[in-house]
Amino acid sequence: MNKIWIEKYRPGNLDGIVGQKVNVEKLRSFVRTGDLPHMIFAGPAGTGKTTAAMAMAIELFGESWKENFLELNASNNRGINVIRGHEDREGRMDGMVSVKDYARIMPSNARGFKIIFLDEADQLTQEAQAALRRTMEIYSSTTRFIFSCNYSSQIIPPIQSRCVVLRFRPISDAEVAEHILTIAKEESMELSRESAEAVADISGGDMRAAINLLQAVQYSGDHSPSKIYEIAGTAEIKEFDRALILALEHMDFKKASEVVDRLVIDRGLSGIDIVRGLHAAIRKSDIEPLKKTEAFMAIADAEFRLVEGGSDKIQLDYLVSRLVRIGSNFN
Ligand SMILES: Nc1ncnc2c1ncn2[C@@H]1O[C@H](COP(=O)(O)OP(=O)(O)OP(=O)(O)O)[C@@H](O)[C@H]1O
Ligand SMILES: [Mg+2]
Repeated sequence: MNKIWIEKYRPGNLDGIVGQKVNVEKLRSFVRTGDLPHMIFAGPAGTGKTTAAMAMAIELFGESWKENFLELNASNNRGINVIRGHEDREGRMDGMVSVKDYARIMPSNARGFKIIFLDEADQLTQEAQAALRRTMEIYSSTTRFIFSCNYSSQIIPPIQSRCVVLRFRPISDAEVAEHILTIAKEESMELSRESAEAVADISGGDMRAAINLLQAVQYSGDHSPSKIYEIAGTAEIKEFDRALILALEHMDFKKASEVVDRLVIDRGLSGIDIVRGLHAAIRKSDIEPLKKTEAFMAIADAEFRLVEGGSDKIQLDYLVSRLVRIGSNFN
């Protein structure tokens, strides 16, 4: 089966992680001592947070790492259920593994603890974080928590103070280019250094975006820098146009927000990137002038809220909702 490259090339050990030297050094020292503190991994998308946690788990637990490492996504279920779990009337859990269920299970390894990796922990409500704090205390002898987030400031202080914070930085263009060349070689793909630099330049320190772009470039057959810029650009511009039409013309919130989600997940764009992309798309579009002006105001509003620290997901849903409403006001 053809595995997507971001998974195929996810490093299986700490040595394979590009950049993040200070963090990798720290994690290595924890592996050496055989014990971990609770941790917060803070930093932008595609810089190796999940990868580093998995690599460390593999080094700590070897073969049994999968039983001793649980990855949960807080934003699938923003509320408290991801922490406490649901119980039906007979007291059975409803199938979703919660932090608490998993924390209760005894570790199946010689280290005496297992790891819970909570992705997008900054999306958890305050209430859920408070519940989590108690869970951390109750199960601290057998469970270590790693919270992954974009900004550690969104984590409540009592949790922060129980954790060692590791900051993940955007990976340097030189390191991204080097890694892209290595993957290209592995895939027997002809790629010049200039082309690898173009991929790095577009990706802005996000290795996931870089590898995804490389794979798209391989499919296209033309590996020149100009083609690479074109692929990166046109793919996104088309998606922005589509999101705009779905929201403003079809008033289809579900579909429009799916397009936006894909831009975030697959292309690694931030909330601000999306707002700017939509702005550019509206400027070029031939949407009727009054509708346009209202859309600009909604965009400006969303940009302001994001800069002020609003969460990407909530503000993007807000923006798409407003665009849908503007669409319906004109029909
Ligand atoms: N530092 C790195 N070294 C090598 N590959 C990396 C690195 N960071 C990311 N990658 C590549 O990008 C993919 C996604 O990385 P990862 O899941 O670790 O990102 P993340 O920091 O957890 O992002 P998010 O905030 O979106 O969860 C990996 O499977 C791997 O292929
Ligand atoms: Mg991750």
